[in-house]
Amino acid sequence: MSTYRELLTEATRTLARAGIPTPFLDALLILSHASGLPKEALLASYPEPVPPETRRTFESLLARRLAGEPVSYIRGLKEFYGLTFHVDRRVLVPRPDTEVLVDAALTLIRRDPAITHIHDACTGTGCILIAILTHTPRPLTASASDVSEEALDVFRENASRLLGTVPPHHRSDLLSSVPGRFHLITANPPYLTEEEVAVMKASGWPEPALALASGPDGLSHIRRLIPQALDHLVPGGYLICEHHDAQADAVAELYREAGYTHVRHLPDLAGRRRATLARRPL
Ligand SMILES: C[S@@+](CC[C@H](N)C(=O)[O-])C[C@H]1O[C@@H](n2cnc3c(N)ncnc32)[C@H](O)[C@@H]1O
Repeated sequence: MSTYRELLTEATRTLARAGIPTPFLDALLILSHASGLPKEALLASYPEPVPPETRRTFESLLARRLAGEPVSYIRGLKEFYGLTFHVDRRVLVPRPDTEVLVDAALTLIRRDPAITHIHDACTGTGCILIAILTHTPRPLTASASDVSEEALDVFRENASRLLGTVPPHHRSDLLSSVPGRFHLITANPPYLTEEEVAVMKASGWPEPALALASGPDGLSHIRRLIPQALDHLVPGGYLICEHHDAQADAVAELYREAGYTHVRHLPDLAGRRRATLARRPL
């Protein structure tokens, strides 16, 4: 019977040979999931034999990783902004890049006490809104929207578990069916090109194309959202939109063309412009 150490070493080698970039971490997280042992307890159990049932579960989960499924879908969860979100094939896995947007939203909320009413469009797991509502310094009224009913199911599940309540939410093409006006709208819309997503899908990428693809230049959603959001913001209200660094100049131009003021890029720690913030004129 193999020990935990032997099983991990063997799995790490198999994943590395298959070109998985983080083979030890992936093997550790999958074994932790299969055994029900936290990572730290697993490392402490190195010399102990792995029960046959755990080994069978581990091997079937490892096969899914080797077939290209992300660890987050295999575990059914992903950490974001210090919170653990349920994820599965109905939603995009939250990315650390999106924490830039949450940081900026929380900074605005802390600085401007007039911000009390917020909306998160293209919400997916709800990671942006739920992170904001968990860390806000004062109560906010909040709502969310997504065009995908399946994504809204995941949003409801995460909000109920992490907030203890489910904020109002709407199935909506961008903001078209969202009632009300807000002091702050956040959005991480799809922003890859159709061609990029076709290549990813052909290689077996499991995330929903609906969460990724946005027309021939990746800007179809943002091009509609920016002018549309003006009607959903109070005067002086803010829109923060995530995008790729290479799209930052085009996005700033879209904000200016629509009449926004105070257009400002939000860089990540590496200096990449991962989101842009602007205000509806007063
Ligand atoms: C890039 S994911 C972002 C998910 C989540 N906010 C996050 O940051 O991880 C984009 C989301 O937009 C949704 N979506 C795609 N097209 C949409 C549209 N036309 N209107 C509203 N939501 C849309 C997708 O279902 C998906 O949940």
